Amino acid sequence: MKITMIGSGYVGLVSGACFADFGHDVVCVDLDEAKIEALRGGKVPIFEPGLADLIERNARAGRISFTTELAPAVARAEVVFIAVGTPSRRGDGHADLSFVQAAAADIARAMDGFTVVVTKSTVPVGTGDEVERIIATTRPDGEFAVVSNPEFLREGAAIEDFKRPDRIVIGSEDTRALGVMREAYRPLSLNKSPILEMNRRSAELTKYAGNAFLATKITFINEIADLCEKTGADVQQVARGMGLDKRIGSKFLNAGPGYGGSCFPKDTLALLKTAQDFEAPQTIVEAVVQTNEKRKRAMGRKVIQAIGGDVRGKVVVVLGLTFKPNTDDMRDSPAIAIVQTLQDAGAVVHAYDPEGMPNASQMFEDVVYFDDPYAAMQDAEGLAIVTEWDEFRALNLTKVQSLLKGLVLVDLRNIYDRGELEMLGIKYVAIGR
Ligand code: UDX
Repeated sequence: MKITMIGSGYVGLVSGACFADFGHDVVCVDLDEAKIEALRGGKVPIFEPGLADLIERNARAGRISFTTELAPAVARAEVVFIAVGTPSRRGDGHADLSFVQAAAADIARAMDGFTVVVTKSTVPVGTGDEVERIIATTRPDGEFAVVSNPEFLREGAAIEDFKRPDRIVIGSEDTRALGVMREAYRPLSLNKSPILEMNRRSAELTKYAGNAFLATKITFINEIADLCEKTGADVQQVARGMGLDKRIGSKFLNAGPGYGGSCFPKDTLALLKTAQDFEAPQTIVEAVVQTNEKRKRAMGRKVIQAIGGDVRGKVVVVLGLTFKPNTDDMRDSPAIAIVQTLQDAGAVVHAYDPEGMPNASQMFEDVVYFDDPYAAMQDAEGLAIVTEWDEFRALNLTKVQSLLKGLVLVDLRNIYDRGELEMLGIKYVAIGR
């Protein structure tokens, strides 16, 4: 099947590479010439485990190629996926749909024969109708159907999530389009991943409702963690006790410094805007957004307090800057607010992250970056683990103890055992334990 991806960002590349791996013939389009040039030369502009190999293998087999020329890529395709960005619009938090709208008009001008146009970008409910209207007015003679097919890819595990999804959501009531979509995902239905067909608006809302629910689950356990700290309970034990109830489920109950990333913060805000527009308030999600926002700076204060309350002129080490491990993505990372809180209090921040430092260095002034975690610890008054990279789970604690001036470790991801640290005379502060 001939598939074209409009947008060779995170979602477009991962989806394109996986479809190619299923045996489809995929063309990825992007306006950014430098990016397309790099991809043609085998360089993948984002860090995602396994993606570079997957692209390389399929490019060699002739199943995936890259271009800046949208029109021929669309004309050849049976299915065109719109996988462009939908960032939060400055000022009002609404999803900015201008890239989606532009893609729809471009597709309309170029399509040739019956074309299934699929929005993969996360778009507010009703966007499919607008894409349909744009295409129909640009090409009154056009034969097409607009489908919503949201992605549920976690960064760092995106290929696994694409190839072994819990479900595939397809929003369309057009029988021809449904047939084409079933064919595109056929290898997955053979894998027994359920394909849910529903109306387009339901598919669009499923994505937002799912992400908002997950953000709620995280925020819920984070607040329970605060209560655990005050009452002498242990949030990890509480989460396990809760999570084994199948109605609750054990995933996404890890207390931490608050959720970040390219999806949860943006999608929860966009959902609130939609809720406002349709006068159906989402008060739970409102509370989640506010609570999570406050939590990030509160985590900075927690580190300061653990170190004794005054960090002026003192070195504090931050291990982990990205919003989660196995990515170089700094978008809405809790580390941003934590570093700022430390700096506002006068601390000198030493930082190390396995992949995030190039992106981080464009965000913070005055952070001192190191090439390995131990070098960052020299003479520091305390250490905070902000992201749970595997590398930080296996620190040589004796070495840590010998390097730190102030023996304090704040573990915002609960990856250490209190006993182990205390045996070495290191003060250990965790989340909800
Ligand atoms: C998320 C969704 O999981 C994915 O389905 C969607 O399509 C895009 O958004 P992603 O943002 O890549 O994926 O990361 P995810 O693993 O979901 O983590 C998001 C944030 O929540 C991270 O900051 C993470 O640290 C935090 N988190 C997650 C917790 O604090 N505790 C948890 O138990 C789980």
